Amino acid sequence: MKVLIVGSGGREHALAWKLAQSPRLGELHAAPGNPGIAALGNCHPVRADDGEGLLALAHALAIDLVVVGPEVPLVAGVADQLRHAGTAVFGPGREAAMLEGSKSFAKELMLAAGVPTAKDLSEPAWPCVVKADGLAAGKGVFVCPDTESLSRALREVEGFPGKPVFEELLVGEELSMLVLAAGEETLALAPAQDFKRAYDGDQGPNTGGMGSYSPVPGIGQSEVEAILEQVHRPVLAELNDRGHPFIGVLYAGLMRTDEGLKVLEFNVRFGDPETQAILPRLEGDLLEALAAAANGDLGDLKLGVSDQACVTVVLAAGNYPAGSDKGSPITGIAAAEETGAIVFQAGTAMRDETLLTSGGRVLNVSALGSTIAEARERAYAACEKISWEGMRYRTDIALASAKREAGEGA
Ligand code: AMP
Ligand code: GLY
Repeated sequence: MKVLIVGSGGREHALAWKLAQSPRLGELHAAPGNPGIAALGNCHPVRADDGEGLLALAHALAIDLVVVGPEVPLVAGVADQLRHAGTAVFGPGREAAMLEGSKSFAKELMLAAGVPTAKDLSEPAWPCVVKADGLAAGKGVFVCPDTESLSRALREVEGFPGKPVFEELLVGEELSMLVLAAGEETLALAPAQDFKRAYDGDQGPNTGGMGSYSPVPGIGQSEVEAILEQVHRPVLAELNDRGHPFIGVLYAGLMRTDEGLKVLEFNVRFGDPETQAILPRLEGDLLEALAAAANGDLGDLKLGVSDQACVTVVLAAGNYPAGSDKGSPITGIAAAEETGAIVFQAGTAMRDETLLTSGGRVLNVSALGSTIAEARERAYAACEKISWEGMRYRTDIALASAKREAGEGA
């Protein structure tokens, strides 16, 4: 099978890494890809949001399956364009992608489907959460526990298009539940948690994600099944009823509150950096599953999951999320991988055989271990081998769960 991965982040590198293990894979291509993906397949200089360019590329390469990584091309309707041209695509069409593309659409659909979520507020009043309506790469959400943060959020959200959404502030632990979906069929991936805030102790602004781990203590198979029943299946059924069957990853961002689970957001794609912690644990042929979903029929396909835990730490530019880093030489990736960790590249560029920074989130370091604590130690030991000027990472990824696992309480 000839596969084209669309995107250039750590998520896409992790997808390429996993798909490259499939006996069904003939050729692996990426648009535009990154230097990490280039070590596994061929990268083509076509932007992820260039629908026409992707169409021409898929045609020229006689691609059998396109796997779309990021949300922007999905919300723009790139999956529809490809499907109409006869190419199998793993990723939802524009209408279904509105679930991520518009917070107000997602709210309306959740209400219609009877899915528990944060209550909407007609007026902003702290404590609350202020959300830009459209796509904002994880940076359009402002958590406002007090009046100062609310005033700041109201000023900042003015910089985003559309009418902001105000909702009640939920308190609890977050959980990312990603599911492969084809119409109303579902195949759950392992539960994961990501760390959205920029700094240790969940301080600082929201980011695209600073780290992740899987599995999540307390979320076993029966809890996963209950979440699918309460959240994913009603949403998929509602989309189906509206004539927009969903093909792709339906990712529910959930808060575990005292009143039960509530949905914070839906994404219509693999999470970044959750994917970098989920795929190293996945057993079985991901390519077979994505191809089956793209053809609209998951059948009785099953995917296994390793008993090992995985922890992923994002190595970011010093000024991320406000800024990024460009052109700083990166050292130590080979040494990090010698420890057994996997380094997925995101914002990197290759110039004259030298790997340089080229973005906000630059690398992801994932490590497996028999416990979360062991995976965590291994991931951080590998991080210490890598450096560039200004590199920064959170030091508390999966810390609370590692402690809880050890019975120390969190
Ligand atoms: P979203 O893009 O809607 O997932 O929001 C990004 C992050 O903001 C979430 O992962 C949470 O950390 C936080 N967040 C969003 N909505 C709420 C809420 N209603 N209450 C508390 N935190 C929230
Ligand atoms: N890790 C959050 C996201 O992918 O949106």
